[in-house]
Parts: sequence; structure tokens; C-alpha cells
Amino acid sequence: MNRLTVVSVVATSLLLIGCGQNKQADTTTKTTPAKTEVTSTPSKSQSVAEKATKAVEAVKESASSAVAKTAEIAKEATKEAKAKATKAVEATKEMATKAVEKGKEVVAKATSTSSKAPAQFAKCAGCHGKDGKMKALGKSEIIAGQSKADLVKKIHEYKAGTRNVAGMGGLMKGQVAGLSDADIDAIATYVSGLKK
Ligand code: HEC
Repeated sequence: MNRLTVVSVVATSLLLIGCGQNKQADTTTKTTPAKTEVTSTPSKSQSVAEKATKAVEAVKESASSAVAKTAEIAKEATKEAKAKATKAVEATKEMATKAVEKGKEVVAKATSTSSKAPAQFAKCAGCHGKDGKMKALGKSEIIAGQSKADLVKKIHEYKAGTRNVAGMGGLMKGQVAGLSDADIDAIATYVSGLKK
């Protein structure tokens, strides 16, 4: 567009210059009295050419400044679009992370409330029964359905060697000595969930 304007202005000014020259040609054919006019005509056409050149320059200048302005606007728009896109990507990432975290939470909850016995409970089942309802060796309390807090406390006490209800504390100490806090937690969660 701007280039077209420049071209058309140049064309117009060339026409104008052309006209001036024609005038000059015309005036030279005139008779002597008009001779003074003849000498003045070239300067006239010269000033027209000058004006045209100036006009062209002005148009060129405004065109280039318009181009520069457009480029600047485009740059700004690109910047803004980039920032927006980055924000959108970040928001999506955050949402995805949150969703994954929630999924993990749900899985963890499902796992902790599942009725599957933790692997470490297998050996306990030998004396306490697989549903925790046996009096171990005919001596212990029934462990099924006791509160998790009680079970954790009792198991820790056996592990520390400080609990001995029926004279079998030493035996229980050997049973739970190798359990980690996490193991004890998992067993207690499971056993407290068993029906009395
Ligand atoms: C060889 C048999 C045997 C095994 C195996 C065994 N226990 Fe025991 N358990 C006992 C006996 C006997 C007692 C009673 C101990 C006492 O005198 O305090 C007992 C007591 C307990 C008590 C306390 C019950 C109460 O309310 O007083 C808990 C809890 C317990 N056992 C958990 C476990 C866990 C958990 C395991 C597996 C890691 C396990 N036991 C393995 C025999 C066993």
C-alpha cells in the first residue's frame, strides 16, 4: 500500500515535470515579446520538480515511519501473544500437576482403606488368625478391631521390650523386632479395620 502511494506520487510528479517541460516547449515557439517568459519558465518547472521531489520525500518519510510503526505494533502484539500463550501453557501444566496429585491421593486412599493385608501381617496370622480373631497361643487378647492407636502403641511397646501381659512379651518382641514404623502403621491400619 505505502509503496503504491509512493509510486503514484512519483508518477504524478513526473507528469507535473513533464507538463512544465511542455510549457517550456510551448513558450519557446512563441514570438519574441514572450521571450522574457521563456527564461522564467525553466525556473518555474524547476520549482515544480523541487516541490514534487519534496512531496515524494515527505511521502517516503511518512511511509517508512508508518512501516516502522506497524512493525512496532506487530512486535508488541507478538510479545503479548507469546506472554498469553506462556501463561496458558503454565496454567495447563498446573492443572495437570494438580490432577496427577489428586489421582495419587485417591490411589493412596484406596490403598490404605483396601482390605488387602500388608505382607508383614502374614506371619502374625499364624498365631492371631488371618482375620485377627484368634487368641494367640490361647493367651493374647483378640487384636481384630482394636483401635489403630492402641495397636500401634502395643506393637511399639513389644518392640521396645516394655510390654508383657501374659508372660509372652518376649515372644512378641521377636515377632515385631524387624518391623519399621511404616510396617507397624500398615499392620495397625489393617488389623483395626478387621471385624471383631
Ligand atoms: C508365635 C505366635 C505369635 C505371632 C507369630 C505373633 N504374635 Fe502377637 N501375640 C502373641 C502372644 C502370645 C501375645 C500375648 C503377649 C503378651 O504376653 O503380652 C501376643 C500379643 C499381641 C498383641 C497385643 C494384644 C493385646 O491387646 O494385648 C498384639 C497387638 C500383637 N500380638 C500383634 C502381633 C503382630 C502385629 C504380629 C505380627 C507381626 C504378631 N502379633 C505375631 C503371639 C504371637
